[in-house]
Amino acid sequence: MSQHRGRLIAASLGPGDEGLITRKAWQALQSDALWCYPVRRKGGSSHALGIVQRTELSTPHDAMELVFPMTHDTEVLSRAWARAAAQIVPVLQAGRDVVFLVEGDASTFSTFTYLARFVGQSDVNIVVEIIAGVPSYHAAAASAAIPLAETDDMVAIVPAGYGVAELEHLLPHFDTLVLLKVKPLLDDIIRWLSDNDLLEHAIFIEKAGAPEERMIRNVASLAGETVNYLSLILVRNRNRQRGTMIRGCKKKDGVVENPAFRLSRDKKRAATVKRSAPHGESYDK
Ligand SMILES: C[S@@+](CC[C@H](N)C(=O)[O-])C[C@H]1O[C@@H](n2cnc3c(N)ncnc32)[C@H](O)[C@@H]1O
Repeated sequence: MSQHRGRLIAASLGPGDEGLITRKAWQALQSDALWCYPVRRKGGSSHALGIVQRTELSTPHDAMELVFPMTHDTEVLSRAWARAAAQIVPVLQAGRDVVFLVEGDASTFSTFTYLARFVGQSDVNIVVEIIAGVPSYHAAAASAAIPLAETDDMVAIVPAGYGVAELEHLLPHFDTLVLLKVKPLLDDIIRWLSDNDLLEHAIFIEKAGAPEERMIRNVASLAGETVNYLSLILVRNRNRQRGTMIRGCKKKDGVVENPAFRLSRDKKRAATVKRSAPHGESYDK
């Protein structure tokens, strides 16, 4: 084991368009770091690797696939994360950087989070570096040429697996809903959009940014279809009730500030004022 550890680097590559790879991720790919990329099964395809393969970079001969099965079974997943960490920790401990190719952005629902956690549990001295990237829904909004948020709009990013009851609960509070992981619930979502007169304000985008990108504005036409896992729906909630302006934002009618929250906020403010006073003096004596 070398004294010097390599860094574990997440190279966020954006959702599919190689033009959205940042300069920083590009530099990491061109370094001497070992490339690792996620696959669902041994020898399977990798959407993340595919993005890089559309560039002029060639895949290094020692690039390593890491298998993360598509399952909700936490035991199976834990075993996969542990196995993947065990594959790369010796490389990091030998002093070489490892760059993990991430589809979209590494801070949003990414396998990288778990990989980094398991690596950290094996060796606390390994430094993790995350290179930010373009998330799928930003690229999707750009493709659809719509804003995700205007002025004081509220945006919710929601894994659709919570079900439409959760959407019903969120709808009064948000101007835009970004629905991810819609594949298993697509028909339920279409029915819910229809029931709430939202069909004409919803856009379905599959494989945003990739050459196979598909954008469907008539979302109802997808009923009964099995879509790709890399699909999302953007919903603009144009009819949300708004109230009067407070500090540049519109107040929601009927919302009263929780007194417990106000108390804790006032305490925090007092503490900040004390900390910033010179020579231990307190301004609020
Ligand atoms: C595990 S999350 C990964 C999110 C990703 N890290 C990001 O920044 O967008 C997977 C979900 O993100 C959405 N997604 C990811 N890539 C996509 C793409 N290229 N086009 C459309 N949706 C995508 C889909 O809803 C998919 O089910």
